[in-house]
Amino acid sequence: MTLKIGVLTGGGDCAGLNSAIKWIAKTAIDPNVAEHKGESVEVIGIREGWKGLVEVLPADPESLNRWTLPLDELVARTWDRLGGTVLGSSRTNPFSPKIDKAQECINNIRDLGLTALVAIGGEDTLSVAHKLYKLGQKVVGIPKTIDRDLSATDYSLGYDTALNVIVEEVDRLRTTAGSHNRLFVVEVMGRHAGWLALEGGEAAGAHVILIPECDFEVERVAALLEKRRLAGVRYDIVVVSEGAKIKGQEEVYVSDAVDSFGHKPLGGIGESLAKRLEKLTGFETRHVCLSHIQRGGQPSARDRLMGRYFGIAAVDLILREDFGRMVSFIDGQITSVPLERAIKKLNLVDVDKLYDQARYNGRRSSLIPPRIRE
Ligand code: F6P
Repeated sequence: MTLKIGVLTGGGDCAGLNSAIKWIAKTAIDPNVAEHKGESVEVIGIREGWKGLVEVLPADPESLNRWTLPLDELVARTWDRLGGTVLGSSRTNPFSPKIDKAQECINNIRDLGLTALVAIGGEDTLSVAHKLYKLGQKVVGIPKTIDRDLSATDYSLGYDTALNVIVEEVDRLRTTAGSHNRLFVVEVMGRHAGWLALEGGEAAGAHVILIPECDFEVERVAALLEKRRLAGVRYDIVVVSEGAKIKGQEEVYVSDAVDSFGHKPLGGIGESLAKRLEKLTGFETRHVCLSHIQRGGQPSARDRLMGRYFGIAAVDLILREDFGRMVSFIDGQITSVPLERAIKKLNLVDVDKLYDQARYNGRRSSLIPPRIRE
């Protein structure tokens, strides 16, 4: 008998995915595991997320070569240093009524001989994993999302690297902003959750931080910036989440196209805010959208480590035959939670606890309630 573990990465790519894949392979193929289980172990990478599992024709060697990649220590040896996902990713949803391919997925899991499957992804990918588990498949999940909006874990792969990108880019913008006395509006990712804007803005020292959890007034932002100039500051940085909204308005989208999970592509709030602020304040204003740069580059030390720990923990779950769970990091410990808990609700910024609605910035005190001056 062979224990055959499949692994795939779904949704937006980010740093840390390859480290998780490497450590799934390295841990599973460890001779101690085969000895302990009394059977040989194989790890198969599925290319391009759920798309690979839908498209692969297990009886056709060419198709197998196109959609799968056998992983061993040598193949994945250097992957932990690489950004993105070597296996590739997609936003394919097998349960979308438009394609309706859930049964193909299940048949292919069987025909590929997979004993268990590790799905590395965010809310969308893990909701597919959860549905497959409910249909009897032996699935476990690993959390990844730079938005950090998954519940039941204090860490999701990709977040730390993205945060460091924001800080690095804002640091670069400071010199040019200062040289020209300009206001810079920096748009960062975060569809529903403002963690990247909040913590990125705090770490980079932004004067104004705008998040999806708290609709904002442009006039108030302008007043905050004017006050600061009067205090003698020559330039300013505003960090805004792509999902942040002006009070009474909708999010700004790049287009109306909807992906197979029902999401429209966000983008443009930075640009429209910059234009309005320039008009209101008279300060020369520029905007920068960090966009996919936040997902790129080499993983930070934290993402490499968390990829390693999550990968090892996912294999542990499989060896214990504890399926339908997501590995998780809670209170400094690697643990696991039912997939259902991770996807039930989004992990949003607690505005009352962490955000100062008067200053549009992180809270300064946990003791003194912030005052909103009208
Ligand atoms: O993974 C989430 C995310 O990073 C969101 O912040 C963003 O809206 C989305 O991905 C964009 O992804 P893509 O352009 O790859 O579809």
